Amino acid sequence: MAAYEYETHDYDVVVVGAGGAGLRATLGMAEQGLRTACVTKVFPTRSHTVAAQGGIAASLSNMGPDNWQWHMYDTVKGSDWLGDTDAMEYLARSAPKAVYELEHYGVPFSRTEEGKIYQRPFGGHTTEFGEGPAVQRTCAAADRTGHAILHTLYGQSLKNNAEFYIEYFAIDLIMSDDGVCTGVVCWKLDDGTMHVFNAKMVVLATGGYGRAFFSATSAHTCTGDGGGMVARAGLALQDMEFVQFHPTGIYGSGCLITEGARGEGGYLTNSEGERFMERYAPQYKDLAPRDYVSRSMTMEIREGRGVGEHKDHIFLNLSHLPAEALAERLPGISESAKIFAGVDVTKEPIPVLPTVHYNMGGIPTNYWGEVLNPTAEDPNAVVPGLMAVGEAGCASVHGANRLGSNSLIDLVVFGRAAAIRAGKVVDPETPPPALNTVSIDKAFDRFDFYRNAKGSIPTAELRLEMQRTMQSDAAVFRASETLKEGVEKMEAIAAKLPDVGVTDRSLVWNSDLMETLELANLMPNAMATIVGAEARHESRGAHAHEDFPDRDDEKWRVHTISRVDGPKVELSYRPVVTDPLTTEDEGGIALKKIAPKARTF
Ligand code: FUM
Repeated sequence: MAAYEYETHDYDVVVVGAGGAGLRATLGMAEQGLRTACVTKVFPTRSHTVAAQGGIAASLSNMGPDNWQWHMYDTVKGSDWLGDTDAMEYLARSAPKAVYELEHYGVPFSRTEEGKIYQRPFGGHTTEFGEGPAVQRTCAAADRTGHAILHTLYGQSLKNNAEFYIEYFAIDLIMSDDGVCTGVVCWKLDDGTMHVFNAKMVVLATGGYGRAFFSATSAHTCTGDGGGMVARAGLALQDMEFVQFHPTGIYGSGCLITEGARGEGGYLTNSEGERFMERYAPQYKDLAPRDYVSRSMTMEIREGRGVGEHKDHIFLNLSHLPAEALAERLPGISESAKIFAGVDVTKEPIPVLPTVHYNMGGIPTNYWGEVLNPTAEDPNAVVPGLMAVGEAGCASVHGANRLGSNSLIDLVVFGRAAAIRAGKVVDPETPPPALNTVSIDKAFDRFDFYRNAKGSIPTAELRLEMQRTMQSDAAVFRASETLKEGVEKMEAIAAKLPDVGVTDRSLVWNSDLMETLELANLMPNAMATIVGAEARHESRGAHAHEDFPDRDDEKWRVHTISRVDGPKVELSYRPVVTDPLTTEDEGGIALKKIAPKARTF
């Protein structure tokens, strides 16, 4: 057994991760007087939310008629009827309040002439239950909305006495034999000390796992750490086969060009200069949802109408927009286009390609953020002491495809909901949970194994094998043959993890070891993704299966539940929640409005 000395910290709540969801949960917990720690592997304002550009969806009606029922309908349809209806209602209904709270906390939103929060159009956001024109629902701080939110929430959390443990890497959850979570074991990166956070509630806000793929808009820190910890604890992941490709990653670098660019009037063209989205989505064109636009772009490229020397990408045109509008509304992407594509957006189009951007799947939760451990007897069984929010979690509001700008609102609505729930279930007067040394020792043993790993495969080599396989076999379009091959390749890759080699044995700023622990987290996320995709014999949202091109609601309107153990993945299925929180009589949306139908734009 590996012997590591550690310092113990007792808290009511420990939040792991300091992106938008983690900070909103931290702030909400601290505001209620719960002793709250936020543990994060990067400085809070460098969390990946800082890269969120275009905005946050809420039916404020600042730019024209809108209401939460239309927002809910768009989210249901956007999800291709895989989202949980109760959670989607909660999201759309709570969104305006959550955004006004952000405004009052100090988020510097862009403004209209009358001083209201500025809102822009985004893909899939419409009026009149998908029958009317596109709506301006996405509240923006230029094209740096995530940056503005993150800085504000960090400041507010500090003001409310939340305690931050910065550059601490979470190794594993502390779990009792009867399945209660009582804390998390961490490694402090800058001095090599070990820390045990003993808590009545652990909130995983660790973000997505975009880095399981070769080309992603996600930061290199997006390594699915929460999903990895949950899988090792024998708990479930949900709907992992649904991976969103953002239509406009810069060709080559993968750097994000916000959908807000199309919201402000930008459009896509092929090698013939044609605005091809008019053919694929006659009503909403470039403002169709992301799965639609990414598939259309891929089809254009496949049919030989891609641009550039290799005809392998598409152009995003902005040069027809007034230079002042670009400078005011899209300054960030104008700079990114210059740096990463060498393009002056006032004169030339930006070369773009669909790029991995978001994971719809994650750790299953209810709409209060409580983690679920679904069984055949109880698909909604709650794991005591554990919550998950943000991209790490799956509430599930995005189902098979997320609408742009529904991510930032998911972060704040469900970060806030988790705090409301914790305020009810966490009693600050009770003593801290007893220290679970068995679970703590197990975490140190695993840490020590990788620290001293003398295997034959360098971490970077194994990671690249995983990333290339996921990129080619779990792509925008999928097929039985390539998925089967992908599963076989990934099983072989995951089986090599115990043979990984680490060369640095130190404990201080050992990035070799940290990247290995991150790879060990990415792997179960990747396995669940490809195995879940291979098993799902239909096309829905971001899962476009060429051998099963239609959606099959009778058989497949179910959530995929995966339990991962090394290269082995066990799948089961859980029903989708089809009932909203309120009936039509109570002011809610009519059931017939949200019944499944063909998804056209
Ligand atoms: O395109 C964007 O600005 C990204 C927004 C989102 O993913 O919600």
